Amino acid sequence: MVLETISKIIKVQLPAYLKKLPLPETIGGFARLTVSEWLRLLPLLGILALLGYLTIRPFLPKKKKQRDSLINLKIQKENPKVVNEIDIEDLKSTNACYCRCWRSKTFPVCDKSHLKHNELTGDNVGPLILKKKIR
Ligand code: FES
Repeated sequence: MVLETISKIIKVQLPAYLKKLPLPETIGGFARLTVSEWLRLLPLLGILALLGYLTIRPFLPKKKKQRDSLINLKIQKENPKVVNEIDIEDLKSTNACYCRCWRSKTFPVCDKSHLKHNELTGDNVGPLILKKKIR
């Protein structure tokens, strides 16, 4: 019963539908179509657009995803916990930037690797900036 219905749709109804479509014989003919003719073409154009998209989708560039849900991918992995201590009194400059993205090659100091990380992932992380007032 189901196959019979599908067969009828493909062999009878679909050709009849396609035959009635107001397909122009030239590209310029599309410009002369009326609104109601465009509306009759919409389902076919929608299906063709969907099929085109599904065909090219595997070839579209994908955003690079992180390997997993880990935040720290490579810094001091031999340690069970990474802890850094910095005495405020030891700050030599008036500004010190500390990494919060865990991608810095000079961790715990920010080397601006967060810029590339944010670009690749769409994230919005940035450094912790400590400012020292000079009196
Ligand atoms: S490199 Fe990590 S916050 Fe800048």
